[in-house]
Amino acid sequence: MALLKILEFPDSRLRTKAKPVEQVDDGIRQIIADMLDTMYKAPGIGLAATQVNIHQQIIVIDISEAKNKPLCLINPILLKQEGRQHSEEGCLSVPDIFEEVERAESIMVEALNQQGESFSLTTDGLLAVCIQHEMDHLKGKLFVDYLSSLKRERIRKKLKKLKKEKSS
Ligand code: NI
Repeated sequence: MALLKILEFPDSRLRTKAKPVEQVDDGIRQIIADMLDTMYKAPGIGLAATQVNIHQQIIVIDISEAKNKPLCLINPILLKQEGRQHSEEGCLSVPDIFEEVERAESIMVEALNQQGESFSLTTDGLLAVCIQHEMDHLKGKLFVDYLSSLKRERIRKKLKKLKKEKSS
């Protein structure tokens, strides 16, 4: 088990655009295993490789109560999106901050699994929110980007203060 360090806003590395995975091999499967360990330990329900400073298009998610239904999406592509929903989001890279964000209500996404096989998934609700949130990370985008610049600045200051308190 290896825990990876999670980058925190406003770290500029979170703005990196991830590259597609060229081949799903043991190296990629190791990254996925480490990302899952890191996500469960945090604890969180989703993690994008960008957040652990690996700039390849890999996402892990588990929204199950028992934390036993890991979902992995490699090179995800959004094929369809419909409707709108608003929900409060958080992010392991923006600790202790929760804000309402608007997302598509239902989506259809295509990706590769850990075996390198292509699959498509149609989903809505929390899982759809989670996939959209993590796909944003791969583009260098954070949920705080949907908020006003005033609010984002307030969050940046709050996190800076929290960090100072933790280190002192
Ligand atoms: Ni996030």
